[in-house]
Amino acid sequence: MNTSSAWWPVALSHALRDQPLACTLHGVPLVVFRDAAGAAAVLPDRCPHRFAPLSAGKVRDGQIQCPYHGWRFDPQGRCTQLPGRPQQACTQPLLQPLLSCEAHGLVWASLGAEPPQPPPVAPAPQEQALDIFWMSDRVRCTLQDATENFLDGFHTHFVHAGWIRHDRKRQQISAWVHALADGVEAQYSEETTQSGLISRLFEGERGISMGRFRLPGLAEIEYRDRQGRLNLLVSAWLVPAAEGELRLFARIVTARGRAPGWLKRAVLQPMFALILRQDRRILQSVSANQQRFAQVPLRWHRQAPLDSPQDLLGPWIRQLLAHGQLQGFEERRETFLL
Ligand code: FES
Ligand SMILES: [Fe+2]
Repeated sequence: MNTSSAWWPVALSHALRDQPLACTLHGVPLVVFRDAAGAAAVLPDRCPHRFAPLSAGKVRDGQIQCPYHGWRFDPQGRCTQLPGRPQQACTQPLLQPLLSCEAHGLVWASLGAEPPQPPPVAPAPQEQALDIFWMSDRVRCTLQDATENFLDGFHTHFVHAGWIRHDRKRQQISAWVHALADGVEAQYSEETTQSGLISRLFEGERGISMGRFRLPGLAEIEYRDRQGRLNLLVSAWLVPAAEGELRLFARIVTARGRAPGWLKRAVLQPMFALILRQDRRILQSVSANQQRFAQVPLRWHRQAPLDSPQDLLGPWIRQLLAHGQLQGFEERRETFLL
């Protein structure tokens, strides 16, 4: 399925200030900046004059100034200044502007010609007062592999041994896998608290937890206590930057409580950064290994990944990404040792 015309996040709203930002979306290098009114603008990151990257330039009065000869472009891609000549208005866009908008703490862009339906995919709404912080990262892997990794509990005993779970201290859980309007969700119950350090530090009694994927690229994990109050919600927007290159924007949310937000962030952020590094390492080695086997005769390996019953979401995520919908989906309830 071609999802390049969907809304994809290209920058954190709070990170886009008076400097331009570079990003890549579906292989297209882009420059993101704010116009004079503060609205986000997105243009291809290449000056039409001698092809300098505009993201290396400066924002002047809400327009992007090329770092090479100083040509200026407005958010519609029109050249408004050619230094060295008397002012000449340029009415024709020399650069094709992208559709852009701002929502949920992110700047979004679309490579389509029309505003995409549906709107930017929103995080799960919460009733409580929240503390929020953001992280962003780049990983050399596919959207499919990263999404599955993020939502899969069965790698945590090995890749994050001791931090999230211990292989020696598995617990029985029941999982209910069901379809969403635009994705798939697994709901887990009967896991009291996870055996790892992070859970022991930050969670009280756990009620239920959810892992969900929603098109085009939102992966979320949500933990609630026995009263149904939020313990933790991590929303990760995964963006295909280029072939085999992924950009990640993660919004980490806890219910506002006694500990101040800055303190929670100071403790949680380095831990999440560690988890992210561990996942990045395994995902990149998986991608590199796929490359290594790309030309190897099929006699020595299988082409398709081998799914197990523990792969609760992965096969459905693969389907959603390939076809834009679930096919032959059946709800499932099963118990596991997690
Ligand atoms: S390359 Fe951009 S102004 Fe010359
Ligand atoms: Fe992980």
